[in-house]
Amino acid sequence: MNNIIEQAFGEGWAAYNADCVKFAQSLPDNSIDISVYSPPFSSLYVYSESVADMGNVASDEEFIEQYRYLVREKFRVLRPGRLTAIHVKDLVFYQNASADGSAGLRPFSDLCTQLHLEEGFTFHCRITIWRDPVLERAKTNAHGLLWKTFQRDASFCRVGMPEYLLVFRKWAKPGEEDLVRPVVHPKSRVPLEAWQELASPVWNYQPGQSGRGDFDLPATDVLNAKQAHDPDAEKHLCPMPLNITKRALALWSNEGEVMFSPFGGIGSEGVAALSMNRRAILTELHPAYYQQAVKNLSAAETSGHQADLFGLLDIAPPPAALEAEAA
Ligand SMILES: C[S@@+](CC[C@H](N)C(=O)[O-])C[C@H]1O[C@@H](n2cnc3c(N)ncnc32)[C@H](O)[C@@H]1O
Repeated sequence: MNNIIEQAFGEGWAAYNADCVKFAQSLPDNSIDISVYSPPFSSLYVYSESVADMGNVASDEEFIEQYRYLVREKFRVLRPGRLTAIHVKDLVFYQNASADGSAGLRPFSDLCTQLHLEEGFTFHCRITIWRDPVLERAKTNAHGLLWKTFQRDASFCRVGMPEYLLVFRKWAKPGEEDLVRPVVHPKSRVPLEAWQELASPVWNYQPGQSGRGDFDLPATDVLNAKQAHDPDAEKHLCPMPLNITKRALALWSNEGEVMFSPFGGIGSEGVAALSMNRRAILTELHPAYYQQAVKNLSAAETSGHQADLFGLLDIAPPPAALEAEAA
């Protein structure tokens, strides 16, 4: 295979220290059941000096042109009738970086949607992941979130920035019907209430618990990025909450199926996949993140901690499912 610097395998996973585009080019057509990941958010963070690092770009336009190569391959390798889910948010631009002294938001999520449409996907759905504006203000001191601004001139005020899970579908073309494999959730395993919860367009806290999203979802449900042995690496990596991947996999894949995470980071999506009895293929360009991903995947493989939909949703299986299992 192309361009692989290092690779490691375990029970149900394979990780590659490689450029995701070159790696994806070597995957067979229609071979991936689902792809879940968080791409670099344009030029927000540069992860490494490599020209292949998609965070190493000067503008959103440049990012989209680089990312296009990956989205094109992803479309080719995804099984017809299946989905890809990407975790993104919009980005801010500041007065000191704008030619005309304005400030505002860059619609990064919309650029990603447009790109997927251009490369053949259909827009399947958008999940809004609630984020606490009070925590955002504390972290960023954003002018548009200050109470002071609200009192003086609220025309500068905005609302907090949510994250999104954007979901795209590769429809089967005529003649590809044999490749389509449905994702099935028998009634005995997923009761109506569980489906109603999974179908929520806003994910704001761990299902079954009350609370504020920022406290319940990401803060407690992420891998530790500080273990990656690279001071620069530690600074930047923002691990994807495990719950986001788990819910996507619970909704849109069958047990045993293969997930591709091209921007593998420290392995969050892969660890979530293993815990849901799915298999994972990851690529990651940065050596320190890759090494940490291998450690995290190895640990997840041996922990034996597996969740199913019931564990995920914190609900008791319906008696019918228990009886079926006992029989
Ligand atoms: C948003 S982070 C992903 C974090 C990951 N979701 C996690 O929880 O660990 C994006 C990652 O993409 C990696 N990356 C950037 N360009 C890449 C490329 N061309 N091929 C593979 N990985 C790349 C960066 O090194 C970074 O780790």
